[in-house]
Amino acid sequence: MQSFKIAVIPGDGVGKEVVPAALLVLEAIGTRFDTAFDLHHFDWGAEYYFRNGRMMPADALDQLRPMDAILLGAVGDPKIPDHVTLNGLLLPIRRTFDQFANVRPAVLYDGVASPLANPGKVDMVVVRENTEGEYAQVGGFVYHQQPEEVAIQTAVFTRRGIERVVRFAFELARKRNRQRRVTSITKSNAQGFGMVLWDRVFQSVAAGYSDIETESLLVDAAAMNFIRRPASFDVVVASNLFGDILSDVSAILTGSIGLAPSANLDPTRRYPSMFEPVHGSAPDIAGRGIVNPMAAILSAGMMLDHFGLEEAARLVERAVAGVLKEGKHRTPDLGGTSSTGEVTGAVIGKLAADKRG
Ligand code: NAD
Ligand code: IPM
Ligand code: MN
Repeated sequence: MQSFKIAVIPGDGVGKEVVPAALLVLEAIGTRFDTAFDLHHFDWGAEYYFRNGRMMPADALDQLRPMDAILLGAVGDPKIPDHVTLNGLLLPIRRTFDQFANVRPAVLYDGVASPLANPGKVDMVVVRENTEGEYAQVGGFVYHQQPEEVAIQTAVFTRRGIERVVRFAFELARKRNRQRRVTSITKSNAQGFGMVLWDRVFQSVAAGYSDIETESLLVDAAAMNFIRRPASFDVVVASNLFGDILSDVSAILTGSIGLAPSANLDPTRRYPSMFEPVHGSAPDIAGRGIVNPMAAILSAGMMLDHFGLEEAARLVERAVAGVLKEGKHRTPDLGGTSSTGEVTGAVIGKLAADKRG
């Protein structure tokens, strides 16, 4: 029997509700496909911080390194500044394990209402550079906490960093074989160094993919066009910060951020990749049993794809799509009254009823 070692980090807030839901789905998949998921549970996050003064232990990354993948819920607690929590847990994992391609699909499922009147058929993927750019954490304070205080925050763009994520986006457009288009997003009219390098590298990589159409948009125009013509996007590639912002927009276009999964990939497979919903710890609804588990379930589906279990991944997607289309079981973010548990049960029911694959 094939077996995969998975680090499970529910984290904070609704992370603790959606990860168990995803694990129930994985359990059903494991039985169906005769596959063992060897789960290693880590209680890292805000509560760990209150006990230990840090978000995860000093050797956390060494504990994660031998895993085949990491399944993460969300990180963030209103009682701790976000830069402490996120620089203490999420961001070091993405960087240390060189998970340079953050893949964030946005699909408008049948039966789900977009906030747009005429969205058309939305089926896009935002590929976000995930290790450098505006998230490089280079900078510092001068006159710290004095009235004259100065803060400097530098974005770091490297030819290698841009090239590899842009190439990943082109390969993905080929593999998806939908509109066969890659849209690159920058702000090179105002940011005259890093983003200019990005544009140049994009053009040089594009030259090697004559079968793929290209488009370059400034981020402000891209924000407008995500709303105006969302169905025209196929693969979108953007810097760390622009990709972060635009993937919340692409998520809500499809009805709820509770439907948006993501994969933080090290495509070279030197290190474990990490799978997590796009949403955060949602403290406003945490602990009430009403969070939408589908983003986490679909993230687990992306993990199955990464393991090469493509049939299993398609089965998870069909189960989620089936529950959405039927419309009987929905959490409040989608206008329903179902609980997280009911929706998870409905997805597992659909899996069991699907005899394909
Ligand atoms: P958020 O994504 O947690 O929530 C935004 C809004 O969407 C809230 O109203 C929330 O209730 C709703 N929402 C989110 N996920 C949902 C789901 N699955 N089902 C139903 N509704 C859902 O963003 P925020 O409020 O800006 O951030 C809260 C905390 O999470 C902050 O500490 C932030 O830094 C952190 N955060 C972490 C991650 C991560 O771990 N990857 C991502 C984003 C934000
Ligand atoms: C995300 C989140 C994180 C990010 C935050 C919490 C640091 O918004 O995963 O989209 O910006 O990458
Ligand atoms: Mn985000």
